[in-house]
Amino acid sequence: MTSSTNFPTDIKSSALELIGNTPLVALDRLHPGPGRILAKCEFMNPGASIKCRSSLHMIQKARERGDLKPGDPVIEVTSGNQGCGLAVVCAVLGHPLTLTMSKGNSVQRAIHMEALGAKCIRYPQVEGTYGNITYADVSIPIEAAVTLAEETGAYFVQQLCNEDNSAAHYEATGPEIWRQTGHRVDGFVTAVGTSGTFSGVSKFLKEQNPEILCCVVEPAGSEPLKGCPIVKPKHLLQGSSYGIVPNLFKPEFMDESISVTDEETEHYKDLIGKKEGLYVGYTSGANVAAAVKLLKSGKLPKDAWVVTVLCDSGLKYTPVPESLIN
Ligand SMILES: Cc1ncc(COP(=O)(O)O)c(C=O)c1O
Repeated sequence: MTSSTNFPTDIKSSALELIGNTPLVALDRLHPGPGRILAKCEFMNPGASIKCRSSLHMIQKARERGDLKPGDPVIEVTSGNQGCGLAVVCAVLGHPLTLTMSKGNSVQRAIHMEALGAKCIRYPQVEGTYGNITYADVSIPIEAAVTLAEETGAYFVQQLCNEDNSAAHYEATGPEIWRQTGHRVDGFVTAVGTSGTFSGVSKFLKEQNPEILCCVVEPAGSEPLKGCPIVKPKHLLQGSSYGIVPNLFKPEFMDESISVTDEETEHYKDLIGKKEGLYVGYTSGANVAAAVKLLKSGKLPKDAWVVTVLCDSGLKYTPVPESLIN
C-alpha cells in the first residue's frame, strides 16, 4: 500500500538537485567593516566544491548534443574538485568515470571520487611537492587523459577549454549572486583555475552593471594574468593558478589582479574557520584575503559590498597526523 499525504512535500529527486543555489553569507565577524564581504558557500555542493556546477552543466550539455550517450564512459583530468563533481553527476546518471590526477593533490580527493564509484589514477609529481602543484606536475595527468581518451573512446570532458564550464556560471552562479544581493554588487573577486567561475560570473555581472569591479586572485610570484613572469611556481592554491593563462579566461572582464601570499591565504583560511565557523580550503582563504585588500584599497565606496567565493571544503586538505591514526 502506498502512503499518501495531503501536506506538501519537499524531496529532491537526486543529488543533482543539490547542486547550486548555494547560500550567500556575510563575513561580518571576520570583516566588521567598513564595507561587507559576501561569500558564496560553494563548499555546500554535494561534491563539496564549486566544480559540481560545471560538472553538471558540461555533462548535461554533452548528453543533449548527443556527444555523450546514456551509459557511455567519461574521462577527465582533475586537481580533485572537478573529479568529485563529475563523480557525483556520473554516479547519478550512470556513466563509468575515470579521472587522472597528480599525486600532489591531496589523497582525500581520490578517496572521495572512488567512494562515488569513479576510478582515480594518480601520477607522481615532477616539480612540486605534496600540496604544491605546478603546471609541469599537471601536464603528466593531462597527457595521460588525452591518451586514455584516444585509446578507450571515452567522452573527454576537457574542463580547460569546455565553454559549458563558464556557461554554468554565466547561467546560474552570476544570476544567483545578483538575486541574493538585491542587485547590489560593487566588486567580485575569485581565484582562477580554468577561469570558468571568473569568466562566467564576471560576464553576467558586467552585463548587469559594467561598473562592478571584477578581480582575479593570484598567488604572489605566480601571476600570469597580471602579465608577470612566473618567479614562484609553488603555492598553496591547489586547484587554481597553474602559471598559465587558461583558454577560458576573458581579459576584457578583468579590472585587476589581486596578489595574495601563502601567509595571507593561511591566515584568512584560519580566520574563516575561527570567526565564521566555516571550514574551507586554501583558495577560499586567498579569495577572502583579496576581498579585504580590495575593500581597503580605496578603489570602491566605503560601504561597498564585495562578493567572493568559498570554493571548497577544508576537509580534503589536512594531512592526517600519524599520531592520530593509531
Ligand atoms: C579549490 C578550488 N578553487 C578554485 C578553483 C577555480 O575554479 P575555476 O576552474 O572555475 O577557475 C578550483 C578549480 O578546480 C578549485 O578546485
